[in-house]
Amino acid sequence: MTKPARAICFDAYGTLFDVYSVAQQAERLFPGQGDALARFWRDKQVEYTRLRSMAGHYKSFWGVTIDALDYCAKALGLGMNAEQRDSLLDQYSVLKAFPENLKALQRLKESGYPLAIHSNGNPEMIAKAVESAGMTGCFDTILSAHSVQKYKIDPAVYQLAPDYFGCSASELVFVSSNGWDICGAAWFGFQTFWVNRQGLPFEDLGVLPHRMGPSLTEVSDWLCNEKSQPN
Ligand code: LAC
Repeated sequence: MTKPARAICFDAYGTLFDVYSVAQQAERLFPGQGDALARFWRDKQVEYTRLRSMAGHYKSFWGVTIDALDYCAKALGLGMNAEQRDSLLDQYSVLKAFPENLKALQRLKESGYPLAIHSNGNPEMIAKAVESAGMTGCFDTILSAHSVQKYKIDPAVYQLAPDYFGCSASELVFVSSNGWDICGAAWFGFQTFWVNRQGLPFEDLGVLPHRMGPSLTEVSDWLCNEKSQPN
């Protein structure tokens, strides 16, 4: 039996904000390469967080995001100039939010759930993305990997949530669209919801999400329904 959720933690990039929305700008700058650049950039960014975290060589998520872009532009032979680089980074700092998110977050908040962003993003980066997505006021806190100078899936990052909410991990729901993040969160002990936006199979790592659905709407349907059930 799962315990009633005391609060809900959301991964940011890919879950709240669409990391692939930079593909349009990338396509304008580098016709025919937009999708490839957006995907490669995201993969390289995540790879760099893991390498830096494992080696104890932390650099902010924004710094890692820039390094990953520079690498991918070189590897794809794009000949990216400073103006193109700035325009992609500007776009990354105001990523589009998935359309259903705001309503789902508002429903959860109205049902009385404390909400947190729980992300590898550094606080300045997250604050800017939240503001540009019109989500100001939705979250009780931003739990950032920056405060422990390590990246998910290091347990030190997940530990920020039980510490902040003063409860056990099993009383918290962690929501992410990143399968690897859900594995880390489930191993840590959270209740997990995998937002499977792309209809992918789940990771073969011997652990499963507690629940899954195609968007944040299913998260709010589930948890708002739980709240309305008599104890
Ligand atoms: C986040 C990235 C890794 O933590 O999705 O927000």
